[in-house]
Parts: sequence; C-alpha cells; structure tokens
Amino acid sequence: MSEESAERVTRLRRHLADGTTDRHERTTSLRAAEYRDGDIAEAEREFVFGRAPVIAAHSSELSEPGDFVRVSLPRNEIVLVRQQDGSVRALVNACRHRAAMVVTEPQGRCRLLSCPYHRWSYNLDGSLRTMTRADTVGDVDPADRALVPLPCEERHGLVWVVDNATAELDVAKWLGPEMDAILAALAIDRHVVFESTTFDEPVNWKVMQDGFLDFYHLEYAHPATAGKLIHTNVAVLEDFGRTCRWTQPRKSISRADAEPPDSAVLDGHLTETHFLGPNSTLVRHPDHLELLTFRPHPTDPARSVMELRLIAPLPGATGLDPEAWTRRWTRNWDLVLEVLTAEDLPILRGTQEAVRSRDAGDMMLGRNEIANHVFWRELAVLLADRPDPDAVAAGSAPAARCPTRGGVSP
Ligand code: FES
Ligand SMILES: [Fe+2]
Repeated sequence: MSEESAERVTRLRRHLADGTTDRHERTTSLRAAEYRDGDIAEAEREFVFGRAPVIAAHSSELSEPGDFVRVSLPRNEIVLVRQQDGSVRALVNACRHRAAMVVTEPQGRCRLLSCPYHRWSYNLDGSLRTMTRADTVGDVDPADRALVPLPCEERHGLVWVVDNATAELDVAKWLGPEMDAILAALAIDRHVVFESTTFDEPVNWKVMQDGFLDFYHLEYAHPATAGKLIHTNVAVLEDFGRTCRWTQPRKSISRADAEPPDSAVLDGHLTETHFLGPNSTLVRHPDHLELLTFRPHPTDPARSVMELRLIAPLPGATGLDPEAWTRRWTRNWDLVLEVLTAEDLPILRGTQEAVRSRDAGDMMLGRNEIANHVFWRELAVLLADRPDPDAVAAGSAPAARCPTRGGVSP
C-alpha cells in the first residue's frame, strides 16, 4: 500500500472511531425545478453534454474491426465502430441521404454500414462507399456525404465521446494528472465487461447520478444488503477539480485491525468511487469494477437512461477456472441488480414523482454529501458561461458566476 493510500486509511479509521466523515464547507440548497424544467434540461444537453467527455463503452464491447455499438446520447444518435487500424470512431447514425437510421441493430459486426432505406453504403470510417442507381441520383461529391464523426478517444480501456461534432476531446487533459494516473493503475483495459444492462427510467438523470454518489443512505435504504457490507456516511474525498475519488471503509476493515497499516491487505476492505465527469461513475470493489453511466433523455427532463456494467478481471489474471470465474461474478451481478431494482430505483422514481409537487419547497445537500457537492459544482462550472437568455434578449450576454472549487474539509 502506498504512503498516500495508508494516509487515506488512517483518516478513515479516525472517522470511524469519531463517527465523522469528510465534509463540504457548507450546505447547499437545490430547487425542484432542476429535475423537471425543460429549459434547464436543454441547457444541460448543450453546455454539459455538448462539451464534456462521456464514457460510451468499454473497449471489450467492440474488440474486433467492424464491431459496432449503437448509443443514444442526449444530442445525437451515434454508432461506435472499431476500425481496421484498431482505433474507434463515433459516427452520427443518420444517413446523409434522407436521414434514415443507418445502423438499426444495437450491436454487432459488419464489413460496411448499409442504410436500409435506399441502400447507400458507408465504409467503417463513415465515408460514403456506394450509392444505389448512382447515375440517376445526380451530382454528389462523396466527400460531402460522409457520416458525421464526433470527437472520440479510447483511453484506459474506455471509449470516450463528446456529444458534439464541433467539440474537441483530450481525455487525459479532462481527467487531470491525478485521475489519469489512478485510472491507469486500475488497468481497466485488462478487464472485460462481464455483464451489462440498461435502465430506462422515468427519472431525471441528476436524481439518478446523485443516488450513486451518495454514501449517506446505505444503512437506511439498504439495511440488509449494501448497508451490511460498507460503513454508512464515512468517506475520505480527494477532489481533483473536474473529477474526484472517495474511499469508503467496508465493514470487514475491523478484521484488518491486526494488520500493519501499510499492508496491502487493507485494499480488500475499501470501496473507491471515481466521479469521472457528469455522466460517469466508476466504482472499484475489492475484486471488480462497476461502471455507471447516465444519459438524459433527448427531450423529456423527467426521463433518463442508466447503463450498468460489471467489469471483471480477465479469467487468466484471476487464477480461477472459467466456471468458478463465471460463478463468482454472477453472484455479484445478481446482488447488485437486486439492490438496484428492489431498493434504489423505487426511491429514485418516487423522487421524480415527488418533485412534480409545485409546493414541494426547496431541498438541500448536507455538508456530509461531499461527492454530490462536487457533481453539482462541476455542473455549475460547465453551465456558468452559457448565455443568459434574458441578457441575450436585452442585447448583452454576461457569463453567470462560476463556482469556486475546493471547500472540502476532513
Ligand atoms: S436514407 Fe439512407 S439511403 Fe436513402
Ligand atoms: Fe443505493
């Protein structure tokens, strides 16, 4: 265990002994409109998802040239395609003839992309390959008719995209040196997606994301499951600006009391959660990873999609035979699905119904809800320089105030 990890464990043990946790410098109030207002949702599509990188897939989900995966992003329907040279491209999934959806299956393997409407075909890189009855179509420069690419980069075994054809993408720069190094050390590219599923929920995406940044609800909402495994309301936060990581002690940490504080054994008694950007949360359990991604609905503020992936080390790296490997993570997968569907999602759906109430009053984040503070702060940073609609109407568009980073105390 590194010196830095040992220091985190020392702080966690102090919190456990004292009944404390890392805290934000102040409470913050939240408005119900955040979860139901169409203008706020549109600003988020443009100024959050139109600019920030999001994780669209794990590399193992499209491992061979021609492998493709369709993804519905808030601004664009896209298809990720593994290229002949091994790179990945993100293409807007709209035919440049008359906008039929070119790739209609959710995923698969192909040699070219063929539109079902009039059978124009595209190469894997999105360039126009052939037009049917081309002689009759008239003058078309194929260079003008390629599928539109979005910025796309593969890094740390994950495929990152910005949902905006005019944006730029530099994942290392986005993550910052600390989080980039943390993800490199996790060796996510030497893992595979063991199982994944999609939840299409009648819930605003921020209610969903907030629910999975929350380490305060464990023993109350999950008394017989997650609350038994992980200590409630105890965490140490490392705030890197756009991203953060927090570490929670598992209940089993008491069994490690006899171990020296620098023992690698302690790693097995911690859960680390990485907030990687507005749609992406990566949880490191002692023996596997869980990736949660959240996508607002393209038009309805009260709907969103959450994807859940259980990402496991390759069988060869675990020493388990294939059956034992499958059994081990099947147990994990069944448990996490049970917790989500029986315990988390009913509460989150209820939240969305409750904020329909015009007289609900405002809400708040406690000082203890530090990861949620980072999420809301970073949303505000992305939204801060959007034009103010009233000011635009009046002929000037000053930037909103950008929140200050920092403010977490042990
Ligand atoms: S819309 Fe795709 S070929 Fe016509
Ligand atoms: Fe939960």
